[in-house]
Amino acid sequence: MAFENKIKELLDKREEAKLGGGRKRIDKQHEKNKLTARERIDLLLDEGSFEEFDMFVIHRSHDFGLEKEVYLGDGVITGYGTIDGRLVYVYAQDFTVFGGSLSETFAKKICKIMDQAMKVGAPVIGLNDSGGARIQEGVQSLAGYAEIFQRNIMASGVIPQISAIFGPCAGGAVYSPALTDFIMMSKENSYMFVTGPKVVKTVTNEIVTDAELGGAMVHASKSGVTHFVADTEEEGLMLIRKLLSYIPQNNLEEPPLVVNTDPVDRLEDSLNSIIPDNPNKPYDVKDVIHAIVDNGEFMEVHRHYAANLVIGFARFNGISVGIVANQPKYLAGVLDINASRKGARFVRFCDCFNIPIVTLVDVPGFLPGTAQEYGGIIIHGAKFLFAYGEATVPKITVTLRKSYGGAHDVMSSKQLRGDINYAWPSAEIAVMGASGATEVLFGRQIKGIEDPEERTKFVAEKEEEYTEKFANPYVAAKYGFIDDVIEPRNTRFRVIKALQALATKKDTNPPKKHSNIPL
Ligand code: HXC
Repeated sequence: MAFENKIKELLDKREEAKLGGGRKRIDKQHEKNKLTARERIDLLLDEGSFEEFDMFVIHRSHDFGLEKEVYLGDGVITGYGTIDGRLVYVYAQDFTVFGGSLSETFAKKICKIMDQAMKVGAPVIGLNDSGGARIQEGVQSLAGYAEIFQRNIMASGVIPQISAIFGPCAGGAVYSPALTDFIMMSKENSYMFVTGPKVVKTVTNEIVTDAELGGAMVHASKSGVTHFVADTEEEGLMLIRKLLSYIPQNNLEEPPLVVNTDPVDRLEDSLNSIIPDNPNKPYDVKDVIHAIVDNGEFMEVHRHYAANLVIGFARFNGISVGIVANQPKYLAGVLDINASRKGARFVRFCDCFNIPIVTLVDVPGFLPGTAQEYGGIIIHGAKFLFAYGEATVPKITVTLRKSYGGAHDVMSSKQLRGDINYAWPSAEIAVMGASGATEVLFGRQIKGIEDPEERTKFVAEKEEEYTEKFANPYVAAKYGFIDDVIEPRNTRFRVIKALQALATKKDTNPPKKHSNIPL
């Protein structure tokens, strides 16, 4: 074959590969308001940066007439490119080829980029849109999944792994995204479940739709499986780009430092009056977060799940931090099972990737009740406690108001190796609130007072006495558990100085195979 014909052959093959399962199926994908795998990669990566691998890989199956149905690339597009100039590895499942189903060769393509990402220390982003195991291949496909799972596990805590779900993700296929650091689902068209509606109906007689069983909002608000929900695929892809801007390339690097345009010494007077006089009145902790971080920019994670705890990424003077804050506006900011799980996973993520943690405390305690106890709040609360205690990144704590009981200890307290612990003058750091304490300490006396008016007066007096004595930051400060009581409007400046002081912090845990976090 003449040289120019060889080049033509290459170009023709490339064109063929780019068409995936063919024009008709691409049109069908668009009709469902879905992008193709290639369109998704183009939007995700910096323009023109994508370098593709394995475009000419084909499956090796001969069953069910599959040998007659061969598509270049075999249903997954893999390679590397850049996001804001930083290297990332990416794979995108192509629904137009056998419904994006996973074959032996498909899995090998994904494993190849995962292996290389580990060697060079760069994030892996998986764009999922798949009917699961390639049914015609059977056990080969199962093995392929397990190869990917094993790599997800080895990469965990070494390189960031992010999954987007833009279509079906069902059966065992859900476990690769579940093993990654963050999941993002598009509101329309995406769903995740271990067993689909048909099996659910057969086994439990429940009738549910795909969306009711495993749609984006279900996983965002009920199960907590997904961290982010995007209205459109485009928005979801932009969200991944933004997320990566807070995260280092791997566990040996620091997060990227961004040029800061927000004055470091900006005083935020509104914070001096944000705490209501009545301790039972809520306020929005997100107002505090927006007021203190660079340019008010806060990327919230798990927004729809366990709203009593707010988590997410922000920057102080260009330094990326993870923020963990109790939310008095929701369930009074109490810690429950879901909030504990949410917080623990986030703290551990930040610790894996050298991202300092800033904790804003306003917590009345753990949520009481049989639902919580039967659900294992002991174990789940312990997770959160464990995560903070194990974390060696810089940990800065600011107690805004309540910090009671066991929850006080959990929320990055001094004794859990909190590095710099500040409190506002409105802080109440004690074993429990005034009314609970009065009931326990003076219960018998209260019962003995027959006159209701006198009884109320006695209770009020005792509560006031307790509040005066304990509901303030100075008892904790007296013992050095609080490093300083700060004026709220200075918080931004004080946190930035603390982060600067802790920039070279080194702390370690004893050598061990791994810890046994209460899972
Ligand atoms: C082979 C598949 C496929 C699969 C879809 N296709 N799923 N081919 N293996 N798993 C093909 C279809 O034959 C069709 O081919 C094309 O993809 C598009 O599928 P449609 O059904 O037309 O699309 P849609 O109506 O959108 O429905 C999508 C779907 C449905 C909900 C995903 O296809 C479906 O239910 N598929 C089977 C899902 C499943 O049971 N997978 C195995 C689960 S077990 P043509 O030629 O018409 O374009 C599993 C175990 C993993 O995954 C364990 C890991 C540990």
